[in-house]
Amino acid sequence: MHESSRRNLLVVAHTPSPNTQALCDAVLRGASHPDIINVEVRHVRPLQAQPDDVLRAHAIILGTTENFGYMSGALKDFFDRIYYPCLQRTEGLPYATYIRAGKDGTGTRIAIEKITTGLRWRAVQAALVLQGDYDEHFIDDCEELGTTVAAGLDAGIF
Ligand SMILES: Cc1cc2nc3c(=O)[nH]c(=O)nc-3n(C[C@H](O)[C@H](O)[C@H](O)COP(=O)(O)O)c2cc1C
Repeated sequence: MHESSRRNLLVVAHTPSPNTQALCDAVLRGASHPDIINVEVRHVRPLQAQPDDVLRAHAIILGTTENFGYMSGALKDFFDRIYYPCLQRTEGLPYATYIRAGKDGTGTRIAIEKITTGLRWRAVQAALVLQGDYDEHFIDDCEELGTTVAAGLDAGIF
């Protein structure tokens, strides 16, 4: 496969706990499914991610905890720094979100949707909200999310 035909899937995920690290690992594992051949998946922590990472991406998966009814400060910092450099240059970018929330997740989902609406990114599925006590099925959900986005990118659906 020619290098230039490869599609870049960027995962910008905040992982402040062992559970959230496991969720991110599951997304990456799902996106690296052996049947998906033409997708390069890369995890960059929100505080490290730069506008160029987004400009190079063909799709993006956002992962965050809910803190104080909002996305993590780390993901908010990411949006603060990439918003204007990416505005009008990433319209239509396919994206998906997963949110780890001890109780709720709604405030985070709405906040992310407002920002991505401003950027004119395109949600490829409803936000995955992993709510309540930690449950092992969250791992399966995250793995499936990674596979869905990467397979869609691989197949040229997005
Ligand atoms: C400072 C702080 C604020 C939090 N605020 C919320 C909140 O507003 N809503 C919510 O659902 N969970 C909240 N949580 C719970 C976190 O979302 C949860 O601890 C995090 O996703 C990590 O999950 P884990 O215990 O499975 O690792 C908060 C946690 C912390 C540490």
